[in-house]
Amino acid sequence: MIVRRAGAEDLSTIMAIERGCFNEQRYSRETVLFMLTDEAFATFLVEDRLPIGSASVHVEGEDALLVSIGVVAEHRCKGAAKVLMEAVEREARSRGAARIALQVSILNVPAMNMYLHLGYRTEGILKGYYGQGKDAYYMVKAL
Ligand SMILES: CC(C)(COP(=O)(O)OP(=O)(O)OC[C@H]1O[C@@H](n2cnc3c(N)ncnc32)[C@H](O)[C@@H]1OP(=O)(O)O)[C@@H](O)C(=O)NCCC(=O)NCCS
Repeated sequence: MIVRRAGAEDLSTIMAIERGCFNEQRYSRETVLFMLTDEAFATFLVEDRLPIGSASVHVEGEDALLVSIGVVAEHRCKGAAKVLMEAVEREARSRGAARIALQVSILNVPAMNMYLHLGYRTEGILKGYYGQGKDAYYMVKAL
């Protein structure tokens, strides 16, 4: 399994991963392209021969935000997301971030477990973050 920085040429690949990972509140093609080209963002692809997951981070000053992470269903539970999280945190640190934050649905047990195991701590609940009655945890980790 290898992880690499993604560029605009990976747009279709990342859209396919996004479609396989998120039913609703998925980023549009325009937004993903923006994240692939704007310097404040960095996107990574993890490949097991073929691309199987991606993650994006936004860094501004000492604050990083994980804006997306997904691994296609048939390749989950093999450590791909952990590889992506390492790349994201390494990148954020190298750009001078002191902390990294994220939002995760309170119903998303796999993702919550992963973030807790990686040292993220819940700092609050965002009521209705994913729509009415769909709350999220706001989690933070010092880098
Ligand atoms: C969350 C997600 C990215 C994890 O990807 P993955 O490649 O399967 O994760 P990994 O194999 O690297 O596992 C990392 C950790 O996540 C946790 N985890 C992963 N799948 C889990 C599951 N089904 N149940 C419970 N914990 C799980 C474990 O803590 C695991 O660490 P461990 O194996 O040392 O116990 C993946 O399930 C996914 O893409 N889900 C859909 C998109 C999504 O919800 N993204 C996050 C939005 S905030």
